[in-house]
Amino acid sequence: MSLQVEFLGMKLKTPFLVGSGPWLSQGSEAQNIVKGLSPYWGGIVTKSYIHPTGKHPYITPHLWTTKEFRGRAMQNSGPPCTQLTDEELRGIEVSCKAAHDEGLVLIASIMGKTEDEWKLMSRQLENAGCDAIELNLSCPSTLDSHKGKGRNIGQIPEQVYDIIRIVKSATTLPVIPKLTPIVNDIGEIAASCESAGADAITAINTVTGIIGIDVETGIPYSSDKDGRAYVSGISGGAIRPIGLRCVSDIYKRTDLPIFGVGGIQDWKNVVEYIMVGAPAVQVCTGFMLKGFNIGKRMANGLTKFMERKGYESVYDFCGVAHKHLTTTYKELTVYAVVDEEKCNGCAQCVPACCESQHIALSLENKKANVNTERCRGCGLCAVVCKQEAISFVSR
Ligand SMILES: Cc1cc2nc3c(=O)[nH]c(=O)nc-3n(C[C@H](O)[C@H](O)[C@H](O)COP(=O)(O)O)c2cc1C
Ligand code: SF4
Ligand code: SF4
Repeated sequence: MSLQVEFLGMKLKTPFLVGSGPWLSQGSEAQNIVKGLSPYWGGIVTKSYIHPTGKHPYITPHLWTTKEFRGRAMQNSGPPCTQLTDEELRGIEVSCKAAHDEGLVLIASIMGKTEDEWKLMSRQLENAGCDAIELNLSCPSTLDSHKGKGRNIGQIPEQVYDIIRIVKSATTLPVIPKLTPIVNDIGEIAASCESAGADAITAINTVTGIIGIDVETGIPYSSDKDGRAYVSGISGGAIRPIGLRCVSDIYKRTDLPIFGVGGIQDWKNVVEYIMVGAPAVQVCTGFMLKGFNIGKRMANGLTKFMERKGYESVYDFCGVAHKHLTTTYKELTVYAVVDEEKCNGCAQCVPACCESQHIALSLENKKANVNTERCRGCGLCAVVCKQEAISFVSR
């Protein structure tokens, strides 16, 4: 059994990379950082680079959450993308060497504004020793990227196609477009990537949103001290269902390998992404919140899981969820049953069922009781029940 993954010819020690966001080239600090990552991570993607003349709005704080979402979601309006100056390039060279010495891959993320910028940065980063180029076509907080289209660049299949062709003409490295979930049909965008010659796809970037509003003042939490609020990217566990759906759509539509990203917090989430078709994943918010150690926990958990299941490699279960994913519905066939051992009589399920009109649940002798004739098998009681006391049987 091995956690190793061969991805576009790159040998990943484990299927987890640190996703683009927290990490800059770091120069002399690089050695310490890659040492911290080394035992349990496959590699790292840099913060997105822009041309030295480019600008990215910078506000502080740029990370916000609410009481309700703490640990599960945050909104991010920065930090600004890094200008790819000569000094930064020297730092990247040091970082590449340090990463390679530790057996990690280093992928450079770029975001150009013009054809020349895309070409120049990809050439420079290839010369600096990076292993692949990720194209940030999905930044939710920049308004002045490619041809002034900003966050829309990954939403237009023709534009995605053009940028990939441009970068492919400038570098021999694998080119990996990173897609936004804010599109009607991510499969169509992925197909455009494939026909342009992309080598793989990363999905997803953050989901554009507003984390919440302070109802006392009417000011969104994502605001600066002057009360100017921003619409920008939401990340963390809460966006994982969207990430899984996007990866699943891309897997169905193309033959490209996929890096799954979005809301990964533990080894089970890694397995979920593998099962919808991404043999490797990137972790951004989880890494920011928990540091190097999340890699250790994911590696240990994934190892135990694969041993228990008898899997030799992640490819043994990559995409297995697809045979169960369907877009057609069957006739109503189940009704709810209550496990009396687990039911603590809290009665939360009763109004959920009765006030949404099915009127199939009551509390009897301090246990939930299902009227099987009336039960529509809708599943709402199981959604409500914190004891996980409700399951379903076929009629
Ligand atoms: C603080 C922060 C900065 C980010 N910066 C970038 C970036 O520069 N380029 C990029 O492609 N994605 C960037 N992302 C997006 C992440 O790489 C990732 O796609 C997204 O956050 C979803 O994954 P997560 O839930 O694991 O964070 C950033 C995310 C955060 C939270
Ligand atoms: S919500 Fe669950 S634990 Fe509470 S009464 Fe219903 S079945 Fe029992
Ligand atoms: S499955 Fe729906 S209808 Fe049946 S008991 Fe639960 S909430 Fe009521």
